[in-house]
Amino acid sequence: MTPQEEFQTLLQQATEHLRYYRELGITHFGESFETTAESLTQIAVPPVSVELPVAENAEPALPTLLNPSSMPDKKSTTEATPLFGEAPFGGMSSTVPELQFADDNLDNIRADLGDCQRCKLWKTRTNIVFGEGNPKAELMIVGEAPGADEDASGRPFVGRAGQLLTKMIEAIQFSREDVYIANILKSRPPDNRNPEADETKACIPFLYRQIAVIRPKLIVTLGNPATQGLLDTKVGITKLRGEFQEYPRLPGIKVMPTFHPAYLLRSPDKKREAWEDLKKVRAFLRGE
Ligand code: URA
Repeated sequence: MTPQEEFQTLLQQATEHLRYYRELGITHFGESFETTAESLTQIAVPPVSVELPVAENAEPALPTLLNPSSMPDKKSTTEATPLFGEAPFGGMSSTVPELQFADDNLDNIRADLGDCQRCKLWKTRTNIVFGEGNPKAELMIVGEAPGADEDASGRPFVGRAGQLLTKMIEAIQFSREDVYIANILKSRPPDNRNPEADETKACIPFLYRQIAVIRPKLIVTLGNPATQGLLDTKVGITKLRGEFQEYPRLPGIKVMPTFHPAYLLRSPDKKREAWEDLKKVRAFLRGE
């Protein structure tokens, strides 16, 4: 690789990093991640003109990312000022996860989640339900929160609704192993009540990271909390279902809202509409 090509690759990676952070709402990296203009010059590269997608209010993060020697390792990241110190998720800096660099992966995310106590649900849950499936899935399925069976087993969608979801997945010629299944919340709300705002705020950044790592082509959201949570909207599922939406945090990922299987168990007459939605999913993933 020529120095020019190497620099181009570095710039592309840095651009990707910036986009990733911006999608997560991060525009400031804090004192411990700032670097001087000097450190940039430590990389001996020829001048190359590249347009970077720097947001108007972005802080000078690029030098940090361009200079590998200034990139903290995982340990020092843990000890440094949290990257979310500026509380991009609304003033909950102590509850948001630590951010990894571009080599983020599902194991890192699970490790950061730890024995999570960022919201009150830890007091009543049995197991965290992180999510499971193909880490390179083209199709991700996002539900609301673990129920009793999921809480007991630590796996998503294993109860009655889960059995119906499995049938829905198989109806479009996928298997559970092909897809990745996760929820907005990773801990069970008592009595299966809906997720509360503080719980979603504390938990959803981990899902954002899972999505950013898996980079599916399409996310099927099941029911209101999943759809509204991922699309940042208050519009209801009945209006949104069946139409492809854009995932607002990363370009190129579509979202297909449909009914939650638990709702379909209660209202079987709605299965016909859900099937219409799933046929669109199947056609999209087949490139039709
Ligand atoms: N309902 C959900 O939304 N998620 C699960 O994992 C199980 C039931």
